[in-house]
Amino acid sequence: MTGVLVTGGTGKTGHELVGLLRGRGVPVRVASRNPAADDPDAIRFDWDDPATHPAALDGQDRVFVVPPVQSVDPMPSVGPFLAEAQRLGVRKVVLLDSAIPLAPRAPELAAQVRAQSGWIVLRASGFMQNFLSPHPLGERIRRDGEIRTAAGDGRVGWIDARDIAATAAAVLLPDLDAVPGDQRDYLLTGPQALSYPEAAAIIAAGTGRPVRVLHASADQQAADLRTAGIPAEFAAILADADADAGVRAGRQDELSTAVLNLTGHPPRTFTQFVQEHAARWAAPAA
Ligand SMILES: NC(=O)c1ccc[n+]([C@@H]2O[C@H](COP(=O)([O-])OP(=O)(O)OC[C@H]3O[C@@H](n4cnc5c(N)ncnc54)[C@H](OP(=O)(O)O)[C@@H]3O)[C@@H](O)[C@H]2O)c1
Repeated sequence: MTGVLVTGGTGKTGHELVGLLRGRGVPVRVASRNPAADDPDAIRFDWDDPATHPAALDGQDRVFVVPPVQSVDPMPSVGPFLAEAQRLGVRKVVLLDSAIPLAPRAPELAAQVRAQSGWIVLRASGFMQNFLSPHPLGERIRRDGEIRTAAGDGRVGWIDARDIAATAAAVLLPDLDAVPGDQRDYLLTGPQALSYPEAAAIIAAGTGRPVRVLHASADQQAADLRTAGIPAEFAAILADADADAGVRAGRQDELSTAVLNLTGHPPRTFTQFVQEHAARWAAPAA
C-alpha cells in the first residue's frame, strides 16, 4: 500500500479514520484547508482551489472523499478532483455520501465515483454528532434545552461518526482488488431508528435535563438554520426537500447491518452516545 489521502481529514469522520489507519501502520495524508503545522503528513487542500488537488493526490493509491459540506453543488469541485485522481493512478475511491442525497447533484457525484476503479460508496444516515454543539441542532439543545424540527415523528437510523470511520477503514485497508462482501454500495446506520422526540427523551434521561421538542414548519426551520449560520440555499434543502420532509415521510426509517458486517463490531447505540457525551449538554452558566 502506498497511502490514503483522507479529505475532510480534520472532520468528525475523517479525523477518526486518520487515527484508525495510522494505528494499523498505514501511511495517511491528512487534507485540510489549515493543515496542522506539527504533522508532516498534513497537506493544504481546498475543494474550492483546484491547484491544491494534484499535490494532495500525488503518490496516493486510495482516497476517502468527504464532499464539501453544505454545498448545493459539489460537482464543480469534486468532479475534476475525481478525474485527476484517476489520471494520477488512484485505485480505490471511497465516498462518504448521505443515505438520502441532499445536494441536487449528489447522485451525479456518486455516479462519477461509481465509474472510478475500485469505487465504494458509503451512504451514511444522520450523524449522532449532530446532537452536539456546534451543530445547530446540538447548540439549541445545549443553549435552550430544545429541539425544533420539521421532521415530525419520522425516524432516522442515527449513526455515530466513529462507526462510519471504522467502516471506512475496513473497506480501505484490504488489498486493492478485494471487495469486502462483494458489495460496493453500503447504507450505514446505527442499530435503532429514532424520531426527534425519542432522541430527546434519551438525552433527557441521560442528562437529567428536560429537552422540549417543538414541531416547526419547513419555512420556520429554514429560517432557524439560516440564523445558525447555514447558507440559505442549503438551509432550504435541509428543512424541506428530501431532508426533514423525507424523514417525516419515513424515508430514513431504515436500518442496515453493514457496520457489523464490515467491522465485526455492532454500531454504538444512541443511549451509549448520550452516556459518553452527557456533559456536553450541560446548561450554560446563567
Ligand atoms: N451530518 C450528517 O448527519 C451527515 C449525514 C450523512 C452524510 N454527511 C456528510 O458527511 C460529510 C461531513 O459532514 P460533517 O458535517 O460531519 O463535517 P465534518 O466532517 O465534521 O467537517 C467538515 C470537513 O470538511 C473539511 N472542509 C470543509 N470545507 C472544505 C473545503 N472548502 N475544502 C476542503 N475541506 C473542507 C473540513 O476541513 P478543514 O476545515 O480543516 O479544511 C473538515 O475536515 C459531509 O459531506 C456531509 O454531507 C453528513
